[in-house]
Amino acid sequence: MDKNPILQVHVKRNRDHTLGARFYLDPAVMHLEKQDLFHTTWQFVCHVSDITDTGDFFTFTLHGEEYFLVLDGEETLRGYANVCPHRGHRLVDGTGNKRVITCPYHAWTFGLNGVLRGARGLSRREKDFDQIGLSSIAVDVLAGLVFVNTSNTAPPLREFAPGLEGQILNACPDILDYVPNRDGAEFGHTYICDANWKVMIDNYLECYHCQMAHPDFNEMMAIPDSAFTLFPTFTYQNAPTKRKSDNLAFPLDLDHDVLVGEFWWLFPNITLGRFPGTQNFYISRFDPVTPSRTSRYTLSLKPADDTDPGAPERDRLRSVWTRDVVAKEDQALCESVQRGMSHRSFHQGWYVSDLNDHGISEHAMRHFHDLYETWIAETPEGTEFP
Ligand code: FES
Ligand SMILES: [Fe+2]
Repeated sequence: MDKNPILQVHVKRNRDHTLGARFYLDPAVMHLEKQDLFHTTWQFVCHVSDITDTGDFFTFTLHGEEYFLVLDGEETLRGYANVCPHRGHRLVDGTGNKRVITCPYHAWTFGLNGVLRGARGLSRREKDFDQIGLSSIAVDVLAGLVFVNTSNTAPPLREFAPGLEGQILNACPDILDYVPNRDGAEFGHTYICDANWKVMIDNYLECYHCQMAHPDFNEMMAIPDSAFTLFPTFTYQNAPTKRKSDNLAFPLDLDHDVLVGEFWWLFPNITLGRFPGTQNFYISRFDPVTPSRTSRYTLSLKPADDTDPGAPERDRLRSVWTRDVVAKEDQALCESVQRGMSHRSFHQGWYVSDLNDHGISEHAMRHFHDLYETWIAETPEGTEFP
């Protein structure tokens, strides 16, 4: 018997075949992903500018569980489960600033370092307060982007993805001066797609579909000249435009704008990059809702001081096109694929992977599946499947 029952349905995968359809459909697979995969990998939360002063806090939900970030008195960003150790009540809501964390249920108070400070009716002589604290999670910041890891056993982000930060800083040297682009249509944009999160990542990791399915994008970009490069835990896509100012998608200012798109994917569910057009950076987190439904959260950034007077209008045109055209095209593709996955005739797809033809090759998608398969094989024995 296989170490892991899920592997039994997957034995036919070889270098030509994609992950089996069951991986995109089975609630047991999603249960394991939520219990283990998203728990042990780095998940993007917010931008450093969201938490700047001592006591600033920022709440968020990750794969069904609530957490919060807070800046302590030592200027360290800390992350905690948003759960009181007394009886489990939520500690803080939304965003704000607090000197101490006071639980609204029975008023236990905690310092910003997570240690219990006061509990009515309980004295330090009876209980060691140092032993009663908030449940902490790991926090890391890369290029101004705040990530958390809820397992406390993962290596720091720079060890998990060596080279990623350098590539981002190389592509966008002033990213540390960027701020959330609150004027853009993509700012804090969340949309729901009726497809498994891996269908959406698969779609992101190949541009084989771009010439067929994204006519505007194809007219603007030199797709055959684009290339995906693989790194152990992430991929990099370089995607040059045709360097034209008039495009079906949106206008480019050839003197001021980004003319080469640069996109990364970080295992398993984070995408980030720089679109052609006005100076920008974006990051997305793909959150599974059900096996056939995903929520994609995107934060976009722009320079704090952009002196280009035409930038706001070009930024608006680009972000509206991104949201209303290309994202909708990709959504329709992914939802169609998800329906196909559940058809009795479909078991497994094929890769078109040619390292000599990077522009349309699907080798980055295969890299994702290789990493995913490695993760499945390494999950602890004894995981329960319904
Ligand atoms: S649940 Fe928080 S003080 Fe009781
Ligand atoms: Fe696409």
